[in-house]
Amino acid sequence: MFAVPLGDEGAELRPLEPWQAEEFLAHMDRGRAFIGRHIGLSDAAADLDSARAWLQSYADKTASDTGRLYGIWLDGRLVGGVLFRVFDAAQGTCEAGCWLEPAASGRGLVTRAARVIIDWAVRERGMERVEWLVSSENTPSIRVAQRLGMRRDGVLRSNHRYRGVRQDTEVWSVLAPEWIEGGAA
Ligand SMILES: CC(C)(COP(=O)(O)OP(=O)(O)OC[C@H]1O[C@@H](n2cnc3c(N)ncnc32)[C@H](O)[C@@H]1OP(=O)(O)O)[C@@H](O)C(=O)NCCC(=O)NCCS
Repeated sequence: MFAVPLGDEGAELRPLEPWQAEEFLAHMDRGRAFIGRHIGLSDAAADLDSARAWLQSYADKTASDTGRLYGIWLDGRLVGGVLFRVFDAAQGTCEAGCWLEPAASGRGLVTRAARVIIDWAVRERGMERVEWLVSSENTPSIRVAQRLGMRRDGVLRSNHRYRGVRQDTEVWSVLAPEWIEGGAA
């Protein structure tokens, strides 16, 4: 399988595909409460059928070049992932995202993985703007955006209802010249 090493601690970035639904569900079950604090991924992958359907939705996005999904494995165990939820090659814009199970957090894995996919998007696919949309309550994710060298464009006030509570969404971004000049990868 194609794999990109993430540092020298046995972590790898690889495609995450529908045939891995059982492994994905087991990972989600280990991290469900943690992952679901601010995003709906854990609800979208509630059982094997929905986990497979979610992975299939990203396989379809990959086939149509409108999104991408990659898993992060640590010592052979799936522990998280990074993705392009939106990938608009014609506009040169995309939106990246991420998650981890709690045992794998605090090691820089997501920051390293996001650098790999953003570098591919900017340098190989000609993306001009990479976005990061995050709940204003989600401090760990905001810190990832900062470590990636993104700037805070602004806040969409009360634009999203999550588990019955309206949330503000911060929009962070990095533009291609900033990414390349910053040597962020
Ligand atoms: C968002 C999320 C992925 C961030 O996880 P994280 O472990 O903090 O992020 P990273 O993998 O980039 O690790 C960075 C942390 O590891 C630390 N670290 C340790 N070794 C490191 C290294 N070699 N390189 C970089 N960072 C390192 C950093 O200091 C940082 O901790 P800090 O923020 O307390 O300073 C995680 O909180 C999560 O999965 N949340 C639930 C899902 C979610 O909300 N996703 C985001 C949706 S917008």
